[in-house]
Amino acid sequence: MDFDIAQIDELLATTRAVRRRLDFSRPVDNQLLLDCIDLAEQAPTGGNLGSRRWIIIRDRRVKQQLGDLYRETALSFMATTAERRRGTGDPNERVMASAAYLAEHLAEVPAIVIPTIIGRHDGSGRPGLFDSVIQAAWSFCLALRARGLGTTWVTAALQNRARVKEILGIPEHITEIALFPVAYTRGTDFRRAPRDPARSITYFDRFGTTAERGPSAELSFDDGPGAIVEIDIGARPARVWSLVTDLNLPARFSTEFVGAEWASDARGVGATFHGRNQHPAIGQWTVTCFVDAWEEPRAFGWRTSDPNNPGARWRFDLEAGGGGTRLRFSYIIGPGPSGTTRALSNNPGRESRVLRRRIDEVHANMQRTVEGIKQLAELSG
Ligand SMILES: Cc1cc2nc3c(=O)[nH]c(=O)nc-3n(C[C@H](O)[C@H](O)[C@H](O)COP(=O)(O)O)c2cc1C
Repeated sequence: MDFDIAQIDELLATTRAVRRRLDFSRPVDNQLLLDCIDLAEQAPTGGNLGSRRWIIIRDRRVKQQLGDLYRETALSFMATTAERRRGTGDPNERVMASAAYLAEHLAEVPAIVIPTIIGRHDGSGRPGLFDSVIQAAWSFCLALRARGLGTTWVTAALQNRARVKEILGIPEHITEIALFPVAYTRGTDFRRAPRDPARSITYFDRFGTTAERGPSAELSFDDGPGAIVEIDIGARPARVWSLVTDLNLPARFSTEFVGAEWASDARGVGATFHGRNQHPAIGQWTVTCFVDAWEEPRAFGWRTSDPNNPGARWRFDLEAGGGGTRLRFSYIIGPGPSGTTRALSNNPGRESRVLRRRIDEVHANMQRTVEGIKQLAELSG
């Protein structure tokens, strides 16, 4: 069978969390929901044991009870979070306002569907329980979208498990997974969400090892190999920004970086600084660095040696979220000459081993650096 890849990709890419565009006035047929559940049941299940059980809620009073519970559990948090983020540009402001809207209107949706699984999630990592239901639940969302319906993956409404079980008569040995408010959508065009490109979140062979191209079967200079470390910091981006742009700070944590001084008065893209380093195999050296990213408080990046043909590219990215900051520190080797290219020419035929060693040592220093920054940022709040 030839699939229409473009259509299937569109379905996979545009099945959004729909809240404000749910059409409460248009009835939804039970058989349609059962058809979607039949499709969802084709998802894999551990041990081939069919342990998923679904509840479709139609009774207005039951929907009302779930709506009341959702509001009690989550509405004040959503409303205050939306209010706190108003005007900050944080994308969660819109999500929270929209989530609050759904909580207020939950009882009005034509149907609520709750997938459950026989068993209690015991945190054992045992496959076959939780892991056997998420994929079916998502298939259900996709099947809805293919038919002009929409939903949102809601978990906050299930937080008070005892009350949910009481309202729906769900036994103790059953775990409820998500709550899906289901309705036809107003219009069927939805956009792709902004997400990190696969290249930036996919590692090759070793966690934290990246490649700009390829990669080949083995680590290769031409693939643009590199490393990424990430850490979640309990401090605002502005605080983390002041630490990552303090050039000398990494010298406190890295075994290679000794210090740096700004070479230009101006800060921003095009500014330069001199970085001093030492390495047991190379001795000491100084490298000129050219700032190629300066977006306070989000990104600080620089290229070494030659801005048009850098020996390496380094970058800090700061992402706000959950009241803190996710700090990402990345490094890409090449494409220009550097100590690494010298080591490569001194070791013919050992390209992947030289690169592996280099990436591992840089990665370890980057890890120490972000851990140090986290500690300092959290100390000072
Ligand atoms: C595990 C999980 C829990 C979620 N819980 C809620 C929730 O309680 N209420 C809600 O309105 N949305 C909830 N969502 C929806 C997310 O807010 C939504 O997926 C996210 O904002 C991204 O939007 P998108 O799916 O359209 O890309 C949840 C999503 C997931 C995956």
